[in-house]
Amino acid sequence: MKTISGRLRLLASTAALAVTLSNGAAMAESLVLYCSVGEEWCSAMANGFSRATGIDVAMTRKSSGETYAQLKAEASNPKGDVWWGGTGDPHLQAAEEGLTEEYTSPMLEKLQPWAVSQATSSGNRTVGIYAGALGFTYNTEVLEDKNLPVPSCWADLIKPEYKGEIQIANPNSSGTAYTALASLVQLLGEDAAFDYQKQLHNNINQYTKSGSAPAKAAARGETGIGINFMHDGVQQRVGGFPVKVIAPCEGTGYEIGSMSIVKGGPNPDAARKWYDWALTAEAQEIGASVKSFQVPSNVGAKVPPEAPSLDTVKLIDYDFKEYGSSATRQRLLSRWDDEIGSLN
Ligand code: F6P
Repeated sequence: MKTISGRLRLLASTAALAVTLSNGAAMAESLVLYCSVGEEWCSAMANGFSRATGIDVAMTRKSSGETYAQLKAEASNPKGDVWWGGTGDPHLQAAEEGLTEEYTSPMLEKLQPWAVSQATSSGNRTVGIYAGALGFTYNTEVLEDKNLPVPSCWADLIKPEYKGEIQIANPNSSGTAYTALASLVQLLGEDAAFDYQKQLHNNINQYTKSGSAPAKAAARGETGIGINFMHDGVQQRVGGFPVKVIAPCEGTGYEIGSMSIVKGGPNPDAARKWYDWALTAEAQEIGASVKSFQVPSNVGAKVPPEAPSLDTVKLIDYDFKEYGSSATRQRLLSRWDDEIGSLN
């Protein structure tokens, strides 16, 4: 049987061990990652970084517009360190609104000019990590069963025969759908683009939260056609689903997928380590290993052979400065809510 003093000695040494453990745990470096690509790629990146640096990563995946909204909501008490992935426009908006931190990575010199221009135009508050063009994914079996023609142009998608057959995301939550909205405005002019979207609405079966959801739905035959980034359609085709991917005949917009450091985040050193690491060729080649076929921004990273080539697609001269500006993005989204979202 232990004496009182023996018990006290035991309690004291248990407490000392607890303090040592909690100090040790506090010393381990960590990073809070907000990630706006597919779940699998987010996890593979988080694991790759932890393996390379020993830094623990707590990752949350949300679509681009949702993550932008989270940064804004948390501005007075930032909880995230890095926002990695998602379309460039909301990253540019976050930069303009001072939600993200200026950082000039030594890796900039290894990047494609389109990735560097994202940094230059934001005062080094964001940078390009990949690129991809917008298009359609269609399910070959669904269109054949319903005797529907293959669409090849934006103009085809508003034909009455596609009623209930098309899916696109909501541009408030999804960067993909905002890229579609901004691309249509640049292709047709703003009023005509909204008229077009009203007609398109008659054929839409669902506005999803995430931009890649329509490609997944097309793959599973839940919709005939999805409007999405072409690489998201290719991911489904490589996954064995009966889909094909189209670049619209009139021309199309594209994204510069981006990365930013959250201003005032809890782990600024780890954030800069992530930033530099994520711009290496090795880190950028992780995408293809999880069937993400965007074009990487590091000039030395292997471009996956499956990646839709941006050289063969008719790309518009997407004005990132204008459509990533806070005023324009806010105005277009609220017009979309008033004129299209309200039609639901
Ligand atoms: O990961 C696929 C992807 O299409 C990225 O290329 C893009 O940046 C992101 O998803 C956009 O997602 P969302 O439209 O859900 O914001």
